[in-house]
Amino acid sequence: MNPALLQRAVATFAAAFGGAPAVVTRAPGRVNLIGEHTDYNEGYVLPCAIDYHTLVAARPRADALVRVVAADFDDARDEFRLDPAIGHRGDAAWANYVRGVYAMLQERGLPLRGAELAIAGDIPQGAGLSSSASLELAVGQAVKALQGFDELGATDLALIAQRAENRFVGCNCGIMDQLISARGEAGHALLIDCRSLQATPVHLPDDMAVMIVHSRVRRGLVDSEYNLRRRQCEAAARHYGVPALRDLDLAALQARAAGLDPVVLRRARHIVTENQRTLDAAQALARNDLPRLGRLMAQSHASMRDDFAITVPAIDRLVEILQAAIGADGGARMTGGGFGGCVVALLPAAAVAAAREAVERHYRSPEGEPGVVHVCQAADGVQTLAAWGAGP
Ligand code: GLA
Repeated sequence: MNPALLQRAVATFAAAFGGAPAVVTRAPGRVNLIGEHTDYNEGYVLPCAIDYHTLVAARPRADALVRVVAADFDDARDEFRLDPAIGHRGDAAWANYVRGVYAMLQERGLPLRGAELAIAGDIPQGAGLSSSASLELAVGQAVKALQGFDELGATDLALIAQRAENRFVGCNCGIMDQLISARGEAGHALLIDCRSLQATPVHLPDDMAVMIVHSRVRRGLVDSEYNLRRRQCEAAARHYGVPALRDLDLAALQARAAGLDPVVLRRARHIVTENQRTLDAAQALARNDLPRLGRLMAQSHASMRDDFAITVPAIDRLVEILQAAIGADGGARMTGGGFGGCVVALLPAAAVAAAREAVERHYRSPEGEPGVVHVCQAADGVQTLAAWGAGP
């Protein structure tokens, strides 16, 4: 972790509230290697947590007031009371992630106390690397640490965070981002079964690099398009009479397609084929079979572009540039919810310099900006970094 980040969180805390925090927690962002939009269809995903984090420095209060300062939004402030009910803020999206986590902890019947929280992070925002899920997890972990809610495990915190996003923020997301931010393992991706929430660590080969390239395409219409895709998937599952698209294979999908809207059929085909690709990719990764992984990533991207319709031309171009630079020994695809954001590439560590150069030379966003390249390490999930234990 970037050591300056801890200093920034603690300094922001001191400037806003005076004195020192009682605990500091941190939660990572994530990159999804493959398995896109499969999570809310109760299917499989293969993300890893990355070494970019959100930190929360926190101290309890004796009353029911929560005071928040966000270093990454010019020290913007928020303040809310835990009683009678936590309200929504229309003018500051970041604040609703904090409020939402408190509201869902409260809904779970936990006796909450007030607190002072300072937030600082280094996850690029709006890039599709789950800065918001990491904020939710870091806040949940801070409340757990401050109040000694030891009964809340990592998966509980992830579910509470997802609920905050679904019920409070208004994005009908699946569980992937919150679960990987909660349960990530250093050096590993996690193959997550989003129905059972069972997660199997898959070791990332030491000589393989995980490269993320931010396209700098601003993600527009994300929530509305996302929620629309989700409704289309649910409509398809109803047509087939299954609880979720996870329960179909390609043969079943094709055999009973009559009467289904052709657009909805294409959306469903993406999910059904992507589930199988994700299982295959986990196997290829475990065997260090980069050529197979590369082919699966290429198929995944084509499916997101043609069947699920969530890519944009600049992202398609960036993926082609990376695919050409990497060749058969690895691959690239868009990662995350879509409509902009980042591309992920898996490639031999020795090939990173050439791939980076190809991006610098050939890629520009629609506004003429170069892409931003991050070579990242797979990180651990949410944790309490330091606890001094001073209460009011
Ligand atoms: C967003 C959502 C996740 C998942 C991905 C797409 O990141 O938050 O739940 O659906 O999009 O795979």
